[in-house]
Amino acid sequence: MSFDPKAATRTPPKVVTFKVKRYDPTTGKEWWQEYKVETYRGMTVLDALLKIKEEIDHTIVLRYSCRMGVCGSCGMIINGMPRLACQTQIAEVATEANPVVTVEPLKNHPVVRDLLTDFTRFFEKHKKVKPYTIRKDIEEREKGDFEYEMTPEEHYNIYEYTLCISCGLCYSACPVVASTDRFLGPQALAYMWRYVADPRDEAWKERLELIDTDEGPFSCHYAASCSAVCPKMVDPAAAIQRLRSALLKYRLGMYKKEKIAQKKVVEVKPNPKPLPPEAQPVPGADPWKKNEEPVNIPIDELIA
Ligand code: SF4
Ligand code: FES
Repeated sequence: MSFDPKAATRTPPKVVTFKVKRYDPTTGKEWWQEYKVETYRGMTVLDALLKIKEEIDHTIVLRYSCRMGVCGSCGMIINGMPRLACQTQIAEVATEANPVVTVEPLKNHPVVRDLLTDFTRFFEKHKKVKPYTIRKDIEEREKGDFEYEMTPEEHYNIYEYTLCISCGLCYSACPVVASTDRFLGPQALAYMWRYVADPRDEAWKERLELIDTDEGPFSCHYAASCSAVCPKMVDPAAAIQRLRSALLKYRLGMYKKEKIAQKKVVEVKPNPKPLPPEAQPVPGADPWKKNEEPVNIPIDELIA
C-alpha cells in the first residue's frame, strides 16, 4: 500500500515547495520548476497542483477526474514513488525538516506534456487479455431471470483483483516493462488471473494459451514493486505467480479449472412501487424489450 490513511489527521508544513518536472513537446525541452504553496490540514498533492494551476501558473498540465481515488487518472511519481495525487496527503510526503515535494510524470508511459502521460499502450495490453467474462451460453446477457452461481469463497479468491482501477501505477513501477515493451505488465496479467480463476468464465484454456509467450508471466522477474505501489491493495505479483503455476501445470496436462459456474434461476419480482414520471423509460428504449429480441453476441469471435 503506497499511502497512509492517517496522514489526513496531521498538519503539513505551512509552506511547501513543489518541484514539478515540466516537458514541452513542441521544443522537446525538460526542466524542473519550483512553486511555493501555502497548505492546510487535509490538503492533497492534487489540491496543491490545482492551486498552482489556478493561482500561480496555468500552463502546467495534468490529468485528474474524481479526486477520490476511484477513477485512476491522477497517477504520478511523488517523491520518487508512483502514487495517486488525490490520495496522497501533503503531510505524508513533506516534513518540517524537509518541506519539499517532487512531482514527475509516471514512468513507462510516454509523456504527452508535463505530468500528463499517454495510456494508449497500457490499454492495448489491457484489451489484449480480453478483460470480460466469456461464456458459450449467453442467455445471462439477454434475460434477467437467472444468474451464474458462485460461492463466497470463490468470490473471495478473485475479489481483490476486481478492485483494480487501471491507474497504471504498477505498470510504472515494473522494471520488466521498463526494459521491454512486449511484456504485458502487472495490471493486464492480474486481470488475466481474475478471469482464469473466475468460475463464471469458460475461456480458461484460450486465456492460458494467449499468455504462453514472452509477453506473459514467465517474463516477470518477481521484483514485486507492482504490489508495493498499488493504491487498491491488489497484489499483481501474486496473480502472476498463480498464472505461472497454472500455465506450467497446463503445459504438463495437469491443470483443469475446478468448476464452471452453472446457471441458477432467480425469481424476478415486479417493482412494488411505480416509477416516478422522471424515471420512466424513454419511448423506444424499453430495457425489457431485449428479452423479446435477443442480441446476437459473436461469442466464437470473442474467444478466437
Ligand atoms: S493493479 Fe493496482 S496499481 Fe495496478 S492498475 Fe490496478 S489499481 Fe492500479
Ligand atoms: S482523480 Fe481520480 S483517482 Fe485521483
